[in-house]
Amino acid sequence: MDIFERIKQNNGPIGDLQKWIEGNFAFPKLKGSISNHITFNNKKTICWSYNNYLGIANSTEINEIDSFAQSEWSMTYPMGSRMMTGDTYLHDEFEINIASFINMEKALLLNFGYQGMISVIDSLLSVNDVVISDSQCHACIIDGIRLHKGVKLIYNHNDLEHLEKQLKKAEELTKNTNGGILVVTEGVFSMSGEQGKLKEICDLKSNYNFRFLVDDAHGFGVMGMKGNGTVCAYNLENQVDLYFTTFTKSMASFGAIIAGNKEIINYFKYNLRSQIFSKSLPMPVVKGLNERLKIIKNADSNRKILFEITSLLQEGLRKRNLLSDKVNTPITPIYFNIKIVDVFDLQKELVYQHGVFCSIVIYPVVPKGVVIFRLTPTSLHTKEDVEHTLKSFDVVFKKYIK
Ligand SMILES: Cc1ncc(COP(=O)(O)O)c(C=O)c1O
Repeated sequence: MDIFERIKQNNGPIGDLQKWIEGNFAFPKLKGSISNHITFNNKKTICWSYNNYLGIANSTEINEIDSFAQSEWSMTYPMGSRMMTGDTYLHDEFEINIASFINMEKALLLNFGYQGMISVIDSLLSVNDVVISDSQCHACIIDGIRLHKGVKLIYNHNDLEHLEKQLKKAEELTKNTNGGILVVTEGVFSMSGEQGKLKEICDLKSNYNFRFLVDDAHGFGVMGMKGNGTVCAYNLENQVDLYFTTFTKSMASFGAIIAGNKEIINYFKYNLRSQIFSKSLPMPVVKGLNERLKIIKNADSNRKILFEITSLLQEGLRKRNLLSDKVNTPITPIYFNIKIVDVFDLQKELVYQHGVFCSIVIYPVVPKGVVIFRLTPTSLHTKEDVEHTLKSFDVVFKKYIK
């Protein structure tokens, strides 16, 4: 069958819903500055969909920093991949600053989180190795693992007994191949809103021999002293082998890092295909990252407000039986048992009649049949935003949830 003909008949799990979702749930055009309120189709709404945890995106300080950096270097400099012609002192300086902040020996700046993680996993593993990951890991981890030609095992979300079973299996398998074992999880799970069981996984190291990689995209800036992340929050810097985070959430920018001991980071420097075959991050972005790092270190008051707003929202949802007790981070997922088409009507009603905008998460981001309303509080949200949102849920959810 012709490739394009086949695609015409099957647009993919989200693409097939296009006629219901385009412009609303998918590809909405949000206008105005990145804040607690945005304008959507001429309607002013409370926005619960930005991962702008510390509220720094679009702050005057950030706008000034980015404008200055843009006028100084423009987006074109440097040209080429870092290995060839795109390396600068500013890239090095950021890596030194971030490594010291997260208490890791060395860090490597990556152009993007998604591609970076794929490449990290790809370059780490040989065919003889076994990789074990949490069932709710982000797509970048799943897709990195897809490239692995050896054995891939999954354990149920945050289920340590199951992880231990998989470790036993992996030890058996690697006895024959002489390979190693990699365990991958997240510091803060982007969908379940639960922290990864990092301490408990590190404790397993006393009985099993494995390397441990943590994606802390949603923990960096939010968890730990001065926002230095979930690994530092539990003093696990010496037990977690590789720390990864992206700067597209709390830092409201671009780029990511992989950090660990200097030998392994040096290996990545020369072997990460996403880096050596791709243009280096532009100077204004790197300058912006250096400055943002200073800002988030000094953002204790933003973190305090973020957690206050989170508690207010989550307490309100728990009173209504809408939130799992397991959620222990700002990410706030409401799980629905509802027909997929109804969920789009529900979302429209919330937006157009109540002025509340939040994202819906469906398959393939979450397993088939699961629908999540995902709210992300930020330090810019107010008590009034929370109260209005909860009242709107009371009205709208009653109609749709049986
Ligand atoms: C857990 C996690 N890891 C990695 C990424 C990818 O980050 P980036 O936006 O830098 O590609 C995301 C972004 O959604 C994420 O949530």
